[in-house]
Amino acid sequence: MIKFDFIKNYSFDFDMGKLDEYEMTGWRRKVDVSLEDIYKKRDEIKSNSQVLVVIGIGGSYLGSKSINDMFSNYFKSDFEVIYAGYSLSSNYLNDLIDYLEDKDFSINVISKSGSTMEIKNTYEVLKEVLIKKYGDIKDRVIVTTGDKGFLVDEIEKYGFYKFPFPEDIGGRYSMFTYAHLFPLSFNIDILEFIKGYNDGDKYVEDAYSYALNRVEMFKKGKVVENIVCYEEKYLMLIEWIKQLFGESEGKNGQGVFPVSTLFTRDLHSLGQFIQDGNKLMFETIFVVKNNKEIGNINKTNNVVVSSVRKAHLTGGVESNMIELDSLGLYDMGGLIKFFFYTACFSAIKFGVNPFDQPGVEVYKSEIKNNL
Ligand code: PA5
Repeated sequence: MIKFDFIKNYSFDFDMGKLDEYEMTGWRRKVDVSLEDIYKKRDEIKSNSQVLVVIGIGGSYLGSKSINDMFSNYFKSDFEVIYAGYSLSSNYLNDLIDYLEDKDFSINVISKSGSTMEIKNTYEVLKEVLIKKYGDIKDRVIVTTGDKGFLVDEIEKYGFYKFPFPEDIGGRYSMFTYAHLFPLSFNIDILEFIKGYNDGDKYVEDAYSYALNRVEMFKKGKVVENIVCYEEKYLMLIEWIKQLFGESEGKNGQGVFPVSTLFTRDLHSLGQFIQDGNKLMFETIFVVKNNKEIGNINKTNNVVVSSVRKAHLTGGVESNMIELDSLGLYDMGGLIKFFFYTACFSAIKFGVNPFDQPGVEVYKSEIKNNL
């Protein structure tokens, strides 16, 4: 069960027809991946590999990484899924290659455009490692991409299996496409996750209320949204939300700047600023109430959640709360739809297009000029 407690409740008066004016709304239809294909490829890889290396960045990475983190054990997993390509860290790549030396592994390289520099570079390096190790790599690389770009040429050259990336779904809205469902299928019950998402339209009104809170806060000068979680495993979900909100509404001088904090850790560092510093922010707290108890840790944490919320209010920092009774894939599926709608409603209220990212293209072309 999900409980929403917003700073203010706004009633729903949005004309949903407005969303039909945009082309990139493929994420609104029922999930249409082939589970049979996903499971078949997953089982093939499980039979010849101990590790799947997922190469992706931005919207082709954050979704599955966040859900994988949330539902994984901190210290062990049945099958290892490792992410790469989300930065240009040569140290990371060297360490990864070292780690993979005595392991059998395969790659899932994901890029909608098939032209992303970090992905191309990382893929080329890991492809060479695969070729050196196995010679024939046809069954060790799965490509998730659109109809253009360097990955299409690679498929032709090596005969790799391809999962399509839908044209009408942008990276940050692609959680329920092959880009994320395939890497998730190794350790997660994706069927339950999909069911929750397909039922997620029931949160449209809540999403609208949350979006209006965000826009109204901005108008009052609260231009930063501190998104809080109380569990390290959930930090990547906030990274995912940061991309979704930041890229959807941060245009034409508009938009709330989303930041993330992990409490109670950051109460011992940023807590002073939040309580007593510049009043530029409001908070949104994401919390799961019932966790497996040990000692009195979870009970204490729940007391801390409500106490800190009250304390911050006395310091002039208002907050929204999104509370899950317990962590479940069905609820998380629904919540992803809730966040998609929130991003759209906020962006439209800010008067910008929720689905483009012209600012990202500016630095990309500057890099191209200099390389
Ligand atoms: O949301 C977006 O569109 C971006 O963050 C992209 O997902 C990111 O740049 C990766 O792009 P691609 O999948 O084309 O490699």
